[in-house]
Amino acid sequence: MAENWTPSSWRHKPIQQVPDYPDLAALAATEERLSKFPPLVFAGEARRLKASLASVAEGNGFLLQGGDCAESFAEHGADTIRDFFRAFLQMAVVLTFGAQQPVVKVGRIAGQFAKPRSSGIEKQGDVTLPSYRGDIINGIEFTEEARVPSPERQIMAYRQSAATLNLLRAFAMGGYANLENVHQWMLGFVKDSPQAERYRKLADRISETMDFMKAIGISAENHPGLRETDFFTSHEALLLGYEQALTRVDSTSGDWYATSGHMIWIGDRTRQADHAHVEYCRGIKNPLGLKCGPSLTADNLLELIDLLNPQNEAGRLTLICRFGHDKVAENLPKLIRAVEREGKKVVWSCDPMHGNTITLNNYKTRPFERILSEVESFFQIHRAEGTHPGGIHVEMTGNDVTECTGGARALSGDDLADRYHTHCDPRLNADQALELAFLLAERMKGGRDEKRMVVNG
Ligand code: PEP
Ligand code: CO
Repeated sequence: MAENWTPSSWRHKPIQQVPDYPDLAALAATEERLSKFPPLVFAGEARRLKASLASVAEGNGFLLQGGDCAESFAEHGADTIRDFFRAFLQMAVVLTFGAQQPVVKVGRIAGQFAKPRSSGIEKQGDVTLPSYRGDIINGIEFTEEARVPSPERQIMAYRQSAATLNLLRAFAMGGYANLENVHQWMLGFVKDSPQAERYRKLADRISETMDFMKAIGISAENHPGLRETDFFTSHEALLLGYEQALTRVDSTSGDWYATSGHMIWIGDRTRQADHAHVEYCRGIKNPLGLKCGPSLTADNLLELIDLLNPQNEAGRLTLICRFGHDKVAENLPKLIRAVEREGKKVVWSCDPMHGNTITLNNYKTRPFERILSEVESFFQIHRAEGTHPGGIHVEMTGNDVTECTGGARALSGDDLADRYHTHCDPRLNADQALELAFLLAERMKGGRDEKRMVVNG
């Protein structure tokens, strides 16, 4: 076990981003209730995810992590979950083909409720109120009442997570994720896309591969791997009282696990080495993510790696880089070199969302070109450094929202008002998410062809 660690040792450390609960006794009572509730995920599942991520760290796999910026109570429903899962699986198939490697599927879902904020207050006209911090803490409505943090919301978030996870497990194992279905949906997307010609080549090659497999007798009926899929959950471990309440000892190993989700990550605002969020995360055995933004130095990073992964276990730590399309070239290489020099085993993932936010017509948005550009730079840099670009981390939904500009349908600043529903950051809609996967798959394939040409002289 981590030295001098308990599930509550974070309480003795400085902490950022803490909600101001007016009734601390009610908060403690809620945490006590939660600590008696069943775990949402199991230690064995978290270990399985860690093993898959270990392969990614070794260069044999690709991590696809994505979902809402913030899940909301209002959008909770079977259709939203199904549509997300459907878009996500299509991305996974396209990326599997592009990378020619297994894709590890991790949703930002079933627990992604708490949000860090740049400012503790929000001003509208001459009214100032506490900021919205996610549905697990307070309400988004701009009223004094809604913005008061309420512990009861933690119970609601727990129950919503349980229901979401239940449906996701059914989708993943009950036949909905059948590769043949996913392939058909993907063909539907390609047919309807204004960029159909561009995507068709790759889609046709996937179809040919499916036909070939069928011809030699490999089908969903006789290969469970084609009708079931591994799907894992993740969220930012921001609200530590909630996390602590769901931290449990695994009876088979005697180790502590966060049972609120399979993988949890530390946000860019709460990654101070001597603070509470790092303290909590170092003691649990789940796979961890660490957001790496432009202010992270190579020395900071090495210190954090030593704290979070002292045994240098592959699969334990994923570095989720979110520099911005114009800052990635300046920031990423020095981190990669430091990690390589010290022989640290990590998964390198690219979050092309959080460094590319702009304001347009009073909407927080992200231009698709910048998102694509950051991922492309990420791939190029890894290729140049000889390291493995191990994954992407995106904010997306299966719904047809208008939150990010650009993409094949060229959403403009004027379109944002149509269907802007996010509770926090702008998400890729289903089409944009799948386009990103197609464009990446093309690049991945290009990279492999290049390598082959070098090898063959
Ligand atoms: C997020 O992932 O929604 C987020 C707040 O990211 P970051 O910590 O990288 O800003
Ligand atoms: Co976000």
